[in-house]
Amino acid sequence: MPLTSASPRHVAIIMDGNGRWAKKRMLPRVAGHRAGVEAVRKIVRAAGDLGLECLTLYAFSSENWRRPEEEVSDLMGLMRRFIASDLDEFAKAGVRLKVIGDLSRFAPEIRGDIEGAIARTATNSRTTLAVALNYGAQDEIVRAARAAAAEGAITTENIERHLDTADMPPLDLLIRTSGEVRLSNFLLWQAAYAELLFVDTLWPDFTPEHLADALRQFGKRERRFGGL
Ligand code: FPP
Repeated sequence: MPLTSASPRHVAIIMDGNGRWAKKRMLPRVAGHRAGVEAVRKIVRAAGDLGLECLTLYAFSSENWRRPEEEVSDLMGLMRRFIASDLDEFAKAGVRLKVIGDLSRFAPEIRGDIEGAIARTATNSRTTLAVALNYGAQDEIVRAARAAAAEGAITTENIERHLDTADMPPLDLLIRTSGEVRLSNFLLWQAAYAELLFVDTLWPDFTPEHLADALRQFGKRERRFGGL
């Protein structure tokens, strides 16, 4: 699909519905997350092919620590395996990996893997894949406001300069899968003028064709940014 003026530069996705996908098949929740990783793999490839500059994925919220220990540990394991299996391909495909959120709560091994992957892809420039890990938007805004205050002025621009997304283009389109209609503490500041799209598809069933369709729907929306 060619880039047009109606193409979004930055798309973010709340990947919801792994648990329900597994339940429908009478499988354990981890099977849903595994299928979710397969969807991530395909969507990251598609994002590059569709000409997206940035894709931000909500992989682990600051509230997800409340899930049973076993599920948290399954998710950590899946992320480590994903880095081990896919980093080469992403590095070659020009994907720059970035994390938004607070990595300090992660175990040193997983932090090391993630920081290694970030360093290895740091000079790539085709697509930025930002993975939200231990991320909460309210916490991000508080951190940014504090940093702005420390510099002497809490202004919109100063807060923006300290958000985790400061080096990324403005968020154009925010998608949530699985039929839930809420933002769940994700990119609250960045969503101020983003288009929102809620789709019923469960995340493991979300395909590159669904993403292309979302971009087509975005292209039809009229964005006025508060003007007429
Ligand atoms: C929501 O489904 C999904 C998550 C909490 C985790 C998302 C993580 C992945 C897709 C895999 C890891 C990501 C990467 C980048 C390798 P849910 O469990 O809340 O589903 P439910 O609402 O149906 O129970």
